[in-house]
Amino acid sequence: MADKATLEINGDKYEFPLKVGSENEVAIDIKTLRNATGGVITIDPGYKNTGSCESAITFLDGEKGILRYRGYSIEELAEKADFLEVAYLLIFGELPTQEQLNKFEADIKDKSVVDDDIKKILDAFPKAAHPMGVLSSLTSALTAFYPSSVDVNSEEAMYNAIVRILAKFPILVAWTMRKKHGLPLEYGDDNLGYVENVLKMMFKKPNSEYEQNPILVNALDKLLILHADHEQNCSTSTVRIAGSSHAGLFVSLASGISALWGPLHGGANQAVLEMLEAIREDGGDTKKYMAKAKDKNDPFRLMGFGHRVYKNFDPRAKIIKVAADEVLGDLGVEDPILDIAKGLEKEALEDQYFVDRKLYPNVDFYSGIIYRAMGIPVEMFTVMFALGRLPGWIAQWREMRLRNEPIGRPRQLYVGETHRDFKTIDKR
Ligand code: ACO
Repeated sequence: MADKATLEINGDKYEFPLKVGSENEVAIDIKTLRNATGGVITIDPGYKNTGSCESAITFLDGEKGILRYRGYSIEELAEKADFLEVAYLLIFGELPTQEQLNKFEADIKDKSVVDDDIKKILDAFPKAAHPMGVLSSLTSALTAFYPSSVDVNSEEAMYNAIVRILAKFPILVAWTMRKKHGLPLEYGDDNLGYVENVLKMMFKKPNSEYEQNPILVNALDKLLILHADHEQNCSTSTVRIAGSSHAGLFVSLASGISALWGPLHGGANQAVLEMLEAIREDGGDTKKYMAKAKDKNDPFRLMGFGHRVYKNFDPRAKIIKVAADEVLGDLGVEDPILDIAKGLEKEALEDQYFVDRKLYPNVDFYSGIIYRAMGIPVEMFTVMFALGRLPGWIAQWREMRLRNEPIGRPRQLYVGETHRDFKTIDKR
């Protein structure tokens, strides 16, 4: 293949080198474009064709439906690893040895408390507050309690900050939910694994012991692994771009949480369930909603369908569909909402509009269904996504800082008014 691309503007030719990734993906390196051409830039709203960085963390091929963390397939990781191993892999680049994993887990447990004053902040939020807003604020607030957390040039400081946030984040997640439901704020149990602890902290009632259900532990472990990273998606790009100003780890993560909240990104799992509820309340007519989704004059979209990069199928959705069937079967859940979901899935997969546009159910279509069966309230779904995505955000932030990437600062094509004279107020 050629090693450069040629661009011709008004008869002038410019050459740009091609870069080839380890999976033979090709990128035109336009770093010199603006200088060489005297001011020409590229424009690519939504960055559909723009690589923002080089990264060695996650590979995905949307056409072939491939997703790999550090070279390991998502299918194998979901089957054979647990969430903490995957977190270690994403952040540090290799699967941990038993010794490394034990240390990692012990260090996380050692930091699994938060300053008691965090409770005062939590108390100040109204109960009606959305948990994503609360989680983003509390994550940001951690900066105030642990101000000297990251010196990126010190491996030890970086490790400590990583362990600290992995330890404290699940507590914030659980407390966000407990506060909303008026439950006392609980800590976990050092004898439990990471995921078991999350479940206990979320669900333990004050007047009874919490009994672990291995089916739920396994399903949540898988869900967290499947959400752990997804290369340069909206929230991850937000974390990287916030951190590129050398803002600290915790506040960069807080920006990522805010970006994840929206219904076109992590908020889709909540939106899926709300859509299914709305269809049920409207009589359960899935055909009517299929027609609305296809009507260009109707803003309604079928939540949980389509993906910016997977234009074949979402490999995570395949794994999670199996897990959803297991959880629902094992728990013996019967739920009209699930029947509506299955109906929509079947109709969409056979519908020409969806087939032509390669719109398949994405991971959020099924994750919401599992969370509901587990008894997790709908408004917590996106929070659970954030819990899973945490190691990915950390890994991407760390990579960005270690590569000493420049501050993220896109340009624009200005299409506003050209220069005009100021009008005094009586002349407007
Ligand atoms: N329902 C109906 N039509 C859809 C849907 C949908 N869910 N998704 C895309 N389309 C249509 C668009 O109207 C467009 O049609 P057109 O070509 O006739 O104009 C075509 O499919 C392409 O859609 P785009 O919006 O250009 O695709 P894009 O890649 O920009 O958007 C997105 C991807 C945002 C995920 C979109 O499919 C969507 O809104 N889906 C619903 C929300 C959702 O499930 N989000 C979760 C994403 S996964 C995640 O964040 C983990």
